[in-house]
Amino acid sequence: MPKPANRITASAPKNFGMFARAMAVPGDLIHLELGMPAADTPDHIKAATIQALRDGHVHYSDLRGIEPLRAALAAKLSSQNDLNVTADDILVTNGLTQASFAAFMALLDPGDECILPEPYYPQHLGKIELAGAVPVFAPLAGPDFAITHAALEPHITSRTKMISIVNPCNPTGRVYSLEELQIIADLAIDHDLWVISDEVYEHITYGAQHISVGSLPGMAARTITMSAFTKAYAMDGWRIGYLTAHPDVMPALMKITTNEVTHVNTFIQYGAVAALTGPPDALARMVADDRVARDLVVARLNQMPGVTCPEPEGTIYAFPDITATGMASQELAEMMMHDVGVVVEAGSFYGDAGEGHLRVCFGAQPMDRLSDAMDRMQRFFNEL
Ligand SMILES: Cc1ncc(COP(=O)(O)O)c(C=O)c1O
Repeated sequence: MPKPANRITASAPKNFGMFARAMAVPGDLIHLELGMPAADTPDHIKAATIQALRDGHVHYSDLRGIEPLRAALAAKLSSQNDLNVTADDILVTNGLTQASFAAFMALLDPGDECILPEPYYPQHLGKIELAGAVPVFAPLAGPDFAITHAALEPHITSRTKMISIVNPCNPTGRVYSLEELQIIADLAIDHDLWVISDEVYEHITYGAQHISVGSLPGMAARTITMSAFTKAYAMDGWRIGYLTAHPDVMPALMKITTNEVTHVNTFIQYGAVAALTGPPDALARMVADDRVARDLVVARLNQMPGVTCPEPEGTIYAFPDITATGMASQELAEMMMHDVGVVVEAGSFYGDAGEGHLRVCFGAQPMDRLSDAMDRMQRFFNEL
């Protein structure tokens, strides 16, 4: 049999973490390892999509995405993200996943280096490798996992082409400050680098202000800003997101997306228009629910022996420190899954800098299940 391409065999196999391990475990597991929103997609979004089907929006559309959606996104990016963009600067994608695939594939050559602050989001690592590029980890130090010049600058070489960030950060729950983003901007400008900014959790913050790094002076032409309807509107299964980039780089990005999928399903884009233009209270309600869940989980985790949990500033993840237990995070996560049926992700899944932590998703289960999970975890840590 002929062999698969080198880009497949030379990169690490896709790792689904604790989710894949949990599939083989029988019994009543509570899943806190996946970032899948607990809420249903709001009705007005579903209704607009059904109406689009009834209205016959079932054919090929503009390859960049339908104009009303790109116009609504341009208005949102200008008013909320301080990015001065028009509908022509936007590409609608199949979730943030396709936006980042297009960005890494279009901008990285084999051998180029991409700096990933660590703990990192593993899906980005996989795409950097598929592009033939080299991920270079820049470990950040807990408990705040702040971006510092000292953490990033020593990793820049003549081969560095890009810095890739997630803000608000999965898995640490950090919302980067203006000062932290300025460090990235200064390095990118000084060394002529791209910045790829994953902002899928931009709406899920608990007081900290989310800032798009692309809005900083000198950053518009070198930043690809990516977001999606996935988390904030509970639309993970819809597969719809978007990116904005300088007009000069748009043809390169579209060379990837059009070869890959032509464009995003036409009728679901009408649902996305409704998400942006419909009542804002649906989004506010979801974030309020996430805050209640966060407060419960952080308070409960801090009562467990050997566990210390800072308050996440954004996202749907707590990232408690479990070093006091003396156990490796993977070993502990597996033991907890088998002993009390609670599945969380090991911090080491996000790179060595995540070791000594667990990632606990508080946005994926209704409150009664979340309380049950915390009771089980309390029992587990009491008996450890
Ligand atoms: C940081 C981050 N980026 C991207 C994604 C995937 O987004 P999408 O489902 O829109 O492709 C996730 C999903 O968990 C995520 O946490």
